[in-house]
Amino acid sequence: MLFIGVDLGTSATKFLLVDEKGEILNTVSKEYPLSFPHPGWSEQAPADWMKACEEGIPELLQGFDSSSVAGLSVAGQMHGLVILDERDNVIRPAILWNDGRTFEEVDYLNNTIGRDKLSQWTGNIAFAGFTAPKILWVKKNEPENFAKIKKIMLPKDYINYCLTGVHSCDYSDASGMLLLDVEHKKWSPEMMELCSVTEAQMPKLYESYEVIGTVKPEIAAKLGLPEGVKVTAGAGDNAAAAVGTGTVGDGACNISLGTSGTIFISADKFGVDEWNSLHSFAHADGKFHLMGCMLSAASCNKWFCEDILGTADYAAEQAQISEDDYGKNNVFFLPYLMGERSPINDTDASGTFIGMRMDTTRADMVLAVLEGVCFAIRDSFEAAKKIGVAVSRSYICGGGSKSPLWRQMMANVLGIPLDIPQTEQGPGYGAAILAMVGAGLYPDVKTACDKLVHVSMTVEPEPELTKRYQERYEKFSRIYPAVKGLFKELA
Ligand code: XUL
Repeated sequence: MLFIGVDLGTSATKFLLVDEKGEILNTVSKEYPLSFPHPGWSEQAPADWMKACEEGIPELLQGFDSSSVAGLSVAGQMHGLVILDERDNVIRPAILWNDGRTFEEVDYLNNTIGRDKLSQWTGNIAFAGFTAPKILWVKKNEPENFAKIKKIMLPKDYINYCLTGVHSCDYSDASGMLLLDVEHKKWSPEMMELCSVTEAQMPKLYESYEVIGTVKPEIAAKLGLPEGVKVTAGAGDNAAAAVGTGTVGDGACNISLGTSGTIFISADKFGVDEWNSLHSFAHADGKFHLMGCMLSAASCNKWFCEDILGTADYAAEQAQISEDDYGKNNVFFLPYLMGERSPINDTDASGTFIGMRMDTTRADMVLAVLEGVCFAIRDSFEAAKKIGVAVSRSYICGGGSKSPLWRQMMANVLGIPLDIPQTEQGPGYGAAILAMVGAGLYPDVKTACDKLVHVSMTVEPEPELTKRYQERYEKFSRIYPAVKGLFKELA
């Protein structure tokens, strides 16, 4: 039997073909554009995601026995608002997870309705990227579009709908809409009323590993799939990455250094951080997790190297950094290129270099960018510590974790060992595991992870550098509070 794991990302969709022993037989990636129609806005056309599937899946299957494909599952970029009209046509481009346009709606939700009520109804407060504030934005700014809404869904659920004809959503992804009562795993009546939507407009809820349907015959023919391929509900990309790295069970942690940067702490029981600085979401294994999300992580390095320095050779840039400079850099970088979510929740925050002098080099600035991302992850790590969740080791995945320098720096900044899984394909591999559980190969997600996911190496923190980075982190922590007021004026 073969399984397909799909990772619907922000810059590309990646496809994985996996056999029943969990071996990755083939991978394909299809890129698409991201549009920023106004500063702080971020949109994508759902049709581009489906086009990626129509091109990617047949290519993935070339040279393999496609008749053996038994299951498929999608891990998706979270929070994006996809709205369909009564004929199931997409009404407007999807408003993505890193879009900051909803600052007024977020202010209304958190301060007029009140954080306490939101937290009581959903386990979370409002953040600009979440889906409910986007619905309020469409209602106010595009009433003609709002009036047409028949179904509301998230990015991966649009793919699942195109494949199966079923309007579904899993609990992990639904958690990020601010419309789910996460603890009780049902749509929140209060939030639906507040957003002027009805349950009929919401998709049906499933556990991530539950089968929602099979690929429709006409779509199967187009994609080169046999009839009857089971589609499981899938998960938000972070929950899927957690499954793909084996981050299941109480206290297990995963750090993802992708376009966004996340710290994901798995928990057996639902729990809310009293300041709501971390998200309280459902996990794809049927349980729960806490998560901190920074909006620009590996994308800061990409931006600085490609757009500012004009090179895509990240390794060459990092090779210019002298080991003596680790933990001694006088330049600091606040990585808030798209505003910031966790833990500061500030759409006005922006990228900031500080501390340059005449002797500052290009290498110092590259180092500052890498360090700034690690320090911002540490901010969420500290938020977890504050509520008594002490993480003593973590998995790490995502594009940024491929850099030996960056992952060692992360271990030193956090002062914990980081386990690198054998496969780098966190979300896609997690999706493939969910497809296997859905097809009945494993009784549950934990059993599948124990059998299929292995650590390839561990990066230990280096005591001397951990000490130095502790001092640097204390300095870093004082920069945002000092410039916060200015960000508002400049925005
Ligand atoms: C998580 C989040 C991002 C996206 C990236 O809350 O917004 O990690 O899921 O695809």
